[in-house]
Amino acid sequence: MNVTDTILARRSVRSYLPEPVAKQLVLSLLESAVHAPSAMNTQPWLFAVVQDGARLKRWSDMAKQRLLQSAKDDAELGRYASLLRDESFNIFYDASTLIVIAGAQRSRFSQADCWLAAENVMLSARAAGLGSCCIGFALDLLNSSELKAELHMPSDAEVAAAVVVGYARDVPAPLVRAAPKVTAWLREVESTAPHGRTEDSYAREHPAGFLATRAAPPAGERAGHPSSHDDPGFGAFGQRRLVEGDRELTLATPLPEELVARLTAVKE
Ligand SMILES: Cc1cc2nc3c(=O)[nH]c(=O)nc-3n(C[C@H](O)[C@H](O)[C@H](O)COP(=O)(O)O)c2cc1C
Repeated sequence: MNVTDTILARRSVRSYLPEPVAKQLVLSLLESAVHAPSAMNTQPWLFAVVQDGARLKRWSDMAKQRLLQSAKDDAELGRYASLLRDESFNIFYDASTLIVIAGAQRSRFSQADCWLAAENVMLSARAAGLGSCCIGFALDLLNSSELKAELHMPSDAEVAAAVVVGYARDVPAPLVRAAPKVTAWLREVESTAPHGRTEDSYAREHPAGFLATRAAPPAGERAGHPSSHDDPGFGAFGQRRLVEGDRELTLATPLPEELVARLTAVKE
């Protein structure tokens, strides 16, 4: 599964098997997380891992109480009131593992950095055969001083993202998304690429040319993959590197037809 396949296949999973996720596999997800970009490379993230069903159930009940309080003055949240009153509803969906991602201190971009790390966790989880789901419902509770203390987070840390991962009981079908709403595509008219070819001619020849992707190793191998330091690199997955003028491009494996059609449609 290459990275585009993984992106297209990821869905929020809301039903999990009780099987625990092995420590090495959780560590490999955290390794993916810290490879996310961060503003000025600050890498502001802290992580807490919770693999304790009774504790998650207790936190779910606490979170639901808080959310119901807030729902009184919040119409959007109010739509979930009956779900939140349902005793059988666990906001963590009985997943075996919760990964909490916090900015060590609140800063201008720390939330964005943490969410990029969260997306890496979810994509790597999908590639490793795990389901995942963001749990926004937990954020208010996780930011309370009581919970931050329980998670051994500094008091000035800000919990930005919470993601459950686990073995899916049901995997939802791929979701059809609305096409990208491109409000503008501002370009220099007839800008010339190296060798006298226009950017347009290059794009026609290589519709997916600027995407660097590689096939993910099979789930089994990945599960035991302790860190990206052992990664054999892009070349090992049969990519073509092209040099054009002063640019080095990594030509991707073909994208799914549907996506290429959509990209072309937007370009036109
Ligand atoms: C910031 C954020 C918070 C979310 N919080 C919850 C949540 O508390 N509970 C839940 O079931 N899903 C939550 N989701 C998942 C979204 O509902 C889901 O991503 C969306 O419906 C699209 O479906 P997909 O992830 O399967 O593509 C959250 C997603 C994001 C990005």
